[in-house]
Order: sequence, then structure tokens, then C-alpha cells
Amino acid sequence: MNTVIIDGKAIAQKIKEEVATKAKEFIRKKARRVCLAVVLVGNNPASEVYVKNKVMACSESSIKSVEYKLDKKVNKNDLLLLIEKLNSDSSVDGILIQLPLPKHLNEQEILQAVNSNKDVDGFTMINSSKLALGLDCLAPCTPSGCVELIKSTGQSIEGKHAVIVGRSNIVGKPLVQMLLAENATVTVCHSLTNDLAYHTRQADILIVAIGKKEFITGDMIKFGATVIDVGINRFEGKLYGDVEFDGASKVAGHITPVPGGVGPMTIAMLLKNTLKATKL
Ligand code: GUN
Repeated sequence: MNTVIIDGKAIAQKIKEEVATKAKEFIRKKARRVCLAVVLVGNNPASEVYVKNKVMACSESSIKSVEYKLDKKVNKNDLLLLIEKLNSDSSVDGILIQLPLPKHLNEQEILQAVNSNKDVDGFTMINSSKLALGLDCLAPCTPSGCVELIKSTGQSIEGKHAVIVGRSNIVGKPLVQMLLAENATVTVCHSLTNDLAYHTRQADILIVAIGKKEFITGDMIKFGATVIDVGINRFEGKLYGDVEFDGASKVAGHITPVPGGVGPMTIAMLLKNTLKATKL
């Protein structure tokens, strides 16, 4: 198989440059910078890396970012007060609450406090409902990035069988809506699906977001399929996807690497959403 490795880093870079041009235009017109507030609670090492990368990407795209690092024991009301302050601050365009939150905080209660017009993660009920209804909205970044990567291959999504492995609120569920909007036929599998390989082998487009290192092997993939690997699994200092790359790349037509596939796209889509939020 002449497998094409989808270069998420290069595609993300192009988006970041487009955002930078528009962010500079915004400064000229509005005499202020586009601004993203990033809230990090606690010191989860992976979250710290993600936040650092997001802040760096903002700076590369001429977007101002303001980081709020809160103690892992922060009181729910103090966090809600901060969100309220950011909601009503007209110089803040986007608000991102990095997940996961410490166990004592109810994730949904916190996420739903973000004003939907500043909800650059697309996690509020208003944005997720709009997505399901096919209305314009701030849509979750990782699944948006996946759709962009599929489109970057030049193939049409319409009529294709897309199989999603993983049903999280962040990736799997919003992807269903996005792929339906592209007229794909969509199957959702998860950790309790019987005979998973039966389903994955039907996929023209296989998107894996199950959070298990090298969970999908080459024998589970249809010849020529497009494989999008959302997994980021750290093991002995190295990053692994949810797809076993060497085996999968022998059968897939197109495949994303880890790192350098979906990861950079999540950040690029976040910048795009932050720019979009300036108009809301
Ligand atoms: N943690 C893992 N993925 C994400 C994401 O897309 N957004 C936020 N806010 N936190 C995350």
C-alpha cells in the first residue's frame, strides 16, 4: 500500500498563519489584541504541557493569552467567580478551562458556567445543541481538527462509512454530528462494543479516540482506509497513539502519526475558534 502520512503539523501551521493574519487585522481595527483566557486547575503534568503549547501557539498567532493557574484544592465558588469575571470582561474573547479538573469539582457545573459566546472549546450545552442541530457555533477543537485532516486528503466524506472508536463528550460524540453534517454514514464503537474488529474493518474512515496505547492493529483496518488517531498515550517517556502505527500504515490509505497528527490541529482549531469568538 502506498500509504500517505497526513502531516497534521504542516496543516496546522497553515491555519495558524491564516489566524495570525486575521489577528493582526483585528489589532489594526480594534486597537486591542484578540484575547484567550486559559484556566488551569492543579498540576496535572499532561495538562501543564497542553496549556504551555496553547499559550505558545497564541503568541505565534498574535493572540494574547492570559493564564490563570489555580491551586488543585481551589474552592468551587472561587473558580465560578473567576469564570464570571472573565465572562463579563469585554477584553476577553475566549475562555478555556483545561480538563481534567480535580475530582472535588463537578466538571459539567464548571464548564456550563462559561458564556457560550466565549466557549472556545464548544463544551457548553448551547454550543453542543447548536452542533447537533446543524447550526453555526463554536465547535469542539479536536473533532473539528479530525474533520479538517480527513478533508486534507482530498477525498469526499459524503456517503463514506465513518467508524468512531470512543464516545467521549470531547471527541466521539461531537464527531458524530460533524460527520453526519458531512453526509457520512456513522457508526460509534466504544470499550464495551462486541466484536470491535468487525466494525472497524467496515470503516472507510476510522477515527480512534479510546485512550488506549496501540489498541487498533493493522488487521482491524480495511485496506485503503483513512485512519485518524486521536490518542496521546505516554509510555516510558515516549508518545503513542491509539493505533499501532507500523502495522496500520501497511494497510491504511491515509494515516495520521502521533505525535504530529491530530495534536497540532486541536490547537490550530482553538486559535480559529478564539478568532471566531471575537465576532460573537
Ligand atoms: N483536555 C483534553 N482535551 C481537552 C480539550 O480539548 N479542551 C480542554 N479544555 N481540555 C482538554
